[in-house]
Amino acid sequence: MTAATAVPVEADGVAPTAPDVLERCRRLVGPALAAAVERLHPWPAEMAAYSLGWCEVGGAPAPGATGGKGLRQALAVLGAEAVGAPGEAGSAGAVAVELVHTFSLLHDDVMDGDTTRRRRPTVWKAYGTGPAVLAGDALFALAVETLAAAPGAHGPAAVRLLAASLTDLVRGQADDLLFESRPWRGPGAVRPDEYRMMAEHKTGALLGSAAALGALLAGAPEETVATLDRAGRHLGVAFQIVDDVLGIWGDPRVTGKPAHGDLRRRKKTLPVLAALSTPEGAAGGLAARRLAGLLEGADALDHDGARRAADLAEEAGGRSAALAEAHRHIAAVHACLESVPLAPRPLGDLRTLLDFLLHRRL
Ligand code: IPE
Ligand code: IPE
Ligand code: MG
Ligand code: MG
Repeated sequence: MTAATAVPVEADGVAPTAPDVLERCRRLVGPALAAAVERLHPWPAEMAAYSLGWCEVGGAPAPGATGGKGLRQALAVLGAEAVGAPGEAGSAGAVAVELVHTFSLLHDDVMDGDTTRRRRPTVWKAYGTGPAVLAGDALFALAVETLAAAPGAHGPAAVRLLAASLTDLVRGQADDLLFESRPWRGPGAVRPDEYRMMAEHKTGALLGSAAALGALLAGAPEETVATLDRAGRHLGVAFQIVDDVLGIWGDPRVTGKPAHGDLRRRKKTLPVLAALSTPEGAAGGLAARRLAGLLEGADALDHDGARRAADLAEEAGGRSAALAEAHRHIAAVHACLESVPLAPRPLGDLRTLLDFLLHRRL
């Protein structure tokens, strides 16, 4: 199995600028990740390789396919480097979090009914729901096994840390699904603090454990590990908000994911919640009322309805309010990183990465 192209090329042929650090970490972790996946039963192994952009359905090489950004493995490597160790010290953690991420995407696409990811049919669409669930299970188990076998004395603590983040991830996914049937307005509506907690759980917990695992495996003090975990959780909330914004206003040719999937499923994303909170009489208040009317309608949103909802959400200020919230969480990440002693070069890489993630289009 070979590593996929690092960064997808946009339809107009211009590559979005991902920082070099993602590619550096991909090269560092790639062989161990491939070796881990090869230990699986060949069927789930193929589904994992397909999801990672390493092969086509059937196992043939897929030179044009694109994998993910590799954010979680990069955080684990940088977590180790930031505490003065070589990136390799975080390798088992990097492999584990990338496996968990892949598992969570396989299951998430089943839960969300999404048919496209990373510009290709989702695993459940390509292989069937049962096989996709099984491949997710296989990746989950492999992640725990990989971490438990990490060299050095930190394996058990690392497994505890990952397990805690998995509990949070499941909690966040549960709330995400339950929020779909909550009303858009009124006393039962999803509050901003509930959204934040859901996003921290479903996305932030894994980013936090990625950074923390790198440091933990490298033998960092407890306070540093906890601070990196907190930083990753803030990053996760910002990351999820940007994901929500891209899900409404992003270009599906760049994101590789379907346009307006969240709107159609009535996901309680922050841009929409923020738009709906614009009061009557304020600028954008009328758009907010119209948006609520559209979302509360009995009919499922078709393509035009989703476009109209996106326009109204923008007019009601939802996009800018959500991005302002993402900026606040990124500022909190910076504050965390400044509160503990970290090595300058990986710290610089982390800062570059934060900037990319906030302004990304994929
Ligand atoms: C997508 O994560 C799932 C979320 C937590 C929002 P990424 O955007 O990191 O997915 P890939 O790995 O780059 O495809
Ligand atoms: C992703 O949530 C969180 C996990 C996979 C745990 P989303 O459902 O918002 O992510 P995308 O947009 O499908 O990647
Ligand atoms: Mg999803
Ligand atoms: Mg989801």
